[in-house]
Amino acid sequence: MKQQETIGRAAVAAKRKQYFYPCTAHFYRDAPQLVRGSMQFIYDEHGKRYTDFFAGVSVVACGHCNPVITARTIEQLQQLQHTSTIYLTQPNVDLAERLEEVLPGNLRRSFFVNSGSEANEGALLLARMHTGRKGFIALESGLHGRTNLTMSVTGLQMWRTDNYLDEDVTFIERPYHPELTLEEAAAVSLKSLKRVLEEKGNTIAAMIVEPIQGNGGMIMPALTYFREVKTLLDQYGVLLIADEIQTGYGRTGTMFAMEHFGVVPDIISMAKALGNGVPVAAFATTDEIAASLNRPSASTFGGNPVSAATALAVLDYIRDEQLPECAAELGARLKNGLLSLQQQFPGMIADVRGTGLMLGAELTAADAAGAAELTDAVLEEMKDRGYLIGKNGVGRNVLAFQPPLVVTAGDIDGMIAVLHEVLLQASSEKEE
Ligand SMILES: Cc1ncc(COP(=O)(O)O)c(C=O)c1O
Repeated sequence: MKQQETIGRAAVAAKRKQYFYPCTAHFYRDAPQLVRGSMQFIYDEHGKRYTDFFAGVSVVACGHCNPVITARTIEQLQQLQHTSTIYLTQPNVDLAERLEEVLPGNLRRSFFVNSGSEANEGALLLARMHTGRKGFIALESGLHGRTNLTMSVTGLQMWRTDNYLDEDVTFIERPYHPELTLEEAAAVSLKSLKRVLEEKGNTIAAMIVEPIQGNGGMIMPALTYFREVKTLLDQYGVLLIADEIQTGYGRTGTMFAMEHFGVVPDIISMAKALGNGVPVAAFATTDEIAASLNRPSASTFGGNPVSAATALAVLDYIRDEQLPECAAELGARLKNGLLSLQQQFPGMIADVRGTGLMLGAELTAADAAGAAELTDAVLEEMKDRGYLIGKNGVGRNVLAFQPPLVVTAGDIDGMIAVLHEVLLQASSEKEE
């Protein structure tokens, strides 16, 4: 295979600095130039191999450049690349049909777009059209996108860039608080939801939630929480939008994370892992709600033959390789490993959270800045030792583990052993 010619990490970083917007950042002080990927591995310009425990932020669930999937992408690329939805083509209707098979309840209709933000924007518009109401409820510290409306329902302050966001959004406490049990935190959140609904339920179109908050720091609510949320929302005719952009397609051990809670939302938005790296996204709903989007709407690239053919290959691969089951089993192994590290380093790991292969380890230090610094130091050292790990959380102090679902037990054990060494080194440096 012909190797891509590389200009080297320093030149890439310099070009980024010169031509990108200054607001864009990359991980790592000494960032490698990534040039090639193969399943759970990624390689830099010197051929050094890294085991990827972040999957490009929860995207490459079936593995980098998975040959089974890319073969079908290439076949479609060579046959018909683009038409737009104003013409009849088969890949997008086949994809909609396949999605209906995996979607819960009577969610049957899919509207295809290109990114998570666009899927959520469409879901929020749909809720307004269906209810004739304008307002939204969202959870504190959630993340839903970069467009004006999706940024308006985003609770995480660091991602609320616009000074002129939609003000008709009410945030309630998320069902998590470090000093409360999950059940107590859920009760606090539900009490607020009830109060908001009593006050102005008839002006609210929808509540949007991530079933498990990703960027918010891997927050999985008590298992009863969303059932109670749905019951309350139904009383006021308010729709529930599940943002499954990060959690969808097997990552948490079930096809969609809402399945853990036994709840069928009114609308599901999806993106990321659906294309395994090719941009494809959608929002799905019932026949009845879909009928409310009753004015012309279209997306030029949405359901593009290449992205649709790829997503079909992704869904086949997830089914054939039983990736949700793999995520549940391997996730339990990874979580046990992280919990055992927490026992050994109680002064450094405050909490281990999440389920399946969507796990977080919250780091702690003397103060919040110290915890964020420690997180960056651990990420840098892990990278030098051949492991890419993610980072999220309100204080940017949560190590995020979201590897491709094709990772092996050996990869997990190896990573835990190296993380042990890195934490040991960090704790001895702390004592010096
Ligand atoms: C839960 C969630 N929703 C929405 C988005 C926005 O998706 P995109 O970056 O594809 O627009 C993200 C991105 O990280 C996300 O994690």
